[in-house]
Amino acid sequence: MANLKTLDVFFSSQSFHEEELRNKVVVVIDVLRASSTIITALMNQAKGIIPVEDMGEASRISQSVGSDNLLLCGEKDGIKIEGYDLGNSPFEYNSDTVKNKTLILNTTNGTKAIKKAVGSAELYVGSFLNLSTIVQTLHEEEKDIVLVCAGWRRRMAIEDLLFAGNIVHKLGNGSLHPEARDGAKVAFGLYDKFRDNIPEVIHSSNHAVRLKDLTDEKDVDYCSQTDICDILPVLNDGIITNFYAKKEV
Ligand code: MLT
Repeated sequence: MANLKTLDVFFSSQSFHEEELRNKVVVVIDVLRASSTIITALMNQAKGIIPVEDMGEASRISQSVGSDNLLLCGEKDGIKIEGYDLGNSPFEYNSDTVKNKTLILNTTNGTKAIKKAVGSAELYVGSFLNLSTIVQTLHEEEKDIVLVCAGWRRRMAIEDLLFAGNIVHKLGNGSLHPEARDGAKVAFGLYDKFRDNIPEVIHSSNHAVRLKDLTDEKDVDYCSQTDICDILPVLNDGIITNFYAKKEV
């Protein structure tokens, strides 16, 4: 059983105040698709990802950094932003495109959730793609842990809550951790109900249905996979890098 102090799950990025995350270890979750895209970009050796809140911040940073190795990336309501180099499909973030590049990423909910959590003690980014790496990291933590679901425009998104529940389940070794708070209990219950049908539940989620009208179904298939890599995205000084890549330097 993990040594954590308390374990909670927040259902959307609007469901908490920034101060509630002070001194806590946070995992930001946006399964479809921002978290999965960030993990994929780091897997394909992007140098780092700068999450931003809106287009204004994205263009301010891109002008001040002004490097050839910078890509402007993101979506609004699932659609690539006009004039940007990349949208938010993980398939765009292949190594030919992102290797050694710094990416400025602006998404509807995911990067806003990350920005709101910058005051936490540690900030990681998780999705089903790096489940075991996230769980292993949290197992060693002795602080309060909060799993922040990005959701969709103030609402919860079932795929985010399901992944949070999967983490809660593993941190309690299959049982509910005694320090689980109400949000963690709900996520655990949801995961327990749907654990044998995770890809199906993700495919029938509101956002997957929304995405099917906007993009290829392969994005949802890809983001429904579990443990395809051991990338640990961590935010330091406003930039997300792979914790393990840093240790190798
Ligand atoms: C978001 O940040 O809301 C998402 O990642 C949207 C998307 O599917 O691109």
